[in-house]
Amino acid sequence: MRKAIEERYSVRTFDPKPLSAEDVAFLEQRVAAINAKTGLNAVFLEDGSKAFSGFKSSYGMFRGVRSLILLKGDPSTPNLFEKAGYHGEALVLDLVDRGLGTCWVGGTFDKSALEVPAGEQFICLILVGYPGKIALKDRVLLARLHDRYKPISERLTAVGHVSQTVMNGMESVRLAPSAANSQTPHFNYDDGILTATAPEDSTFGLVDLGIAKCHFVEEAGGSFEFGLGGRWLL
Ligand SMILES: Cc1cc2nc3c(=O)[nH]c(=O)nc-3n(C[C@H](O)[C@H](O)[C@H](O)COP(=O)(O)O)c2cc1C
Repeated sequence: MRKAIEERYSVRTFDPKPLSAEDVAFLEQRVAAINAKTGLNAVFLEDGSKAFSGFKSSYGMFRGVRSLILLKGDPSTPNLFEKAGYHGEALVLDLVDRGLGTCWVGGTFDKSALEVPAGEQFICLILVGYPGKIALKDRVLLARLHDRYKPISERLTAVGHVSQTVMNGMESVRLAPSAANSQTPHFNYDDGILTATAPEDSTFGLVDLGIAKCHFVEEAGGSFEFGLGGRWLL
């Protein structure tokens, strides 16, 4: 299993110091590459802290937030939300490799503090920064984090023998982040064909689906078609 998949968790306490020039350059380059590849219009904000500094409903949940990626795009772009999830999570894993902390954020911030041009669809944010020092009780909670994920049996419906490659991919899916930890993307394996789907009616269901497909491909290889019921292609 890729180390970043095992080690990633949602960082909510950041060291407020600015990112290094190298990390900023890396982020700007990667965000531009995602936009070129997907049709998204994501922006990297080196200082997006105002969306968090006065936000009461977060109940102090986030600390030291400064840099973030604002995911948005033309609403007519096919599979916009899923692409944001897939390519955003691929970037998250690379950021973890660089020793950076990340957190996907869909709701718990001050939306009025960030500009989304008229005609563009806001998707969600990815916070990025150096992980801050966390209290001992939180460290104990983090150590038990993986217990919070559902078993593969609740994420995969299978008919016939499932290969070890698919099981490895599913173990990686199990550790994927999802909005409110809902873990709703579901995989179906039938006679050698693996597909993935998610509830259409939830706000972030399709972002979660893209994230889950990214985790699967990281571990099992191949590629995944976008869309509900999209197939894994080797
Ligand atoms: C699309 C998306 C939106 C999220 N929105 C929020 C949010 O608004 N506030 C928050 O604190 N965490 C948010 N999260 C983080 C999830 O709560 C977190 O991924 C989940 O609880 C699993 O924990 P882990 O990431 O530490 O494994 C979001 C995650 C995703 C994927």
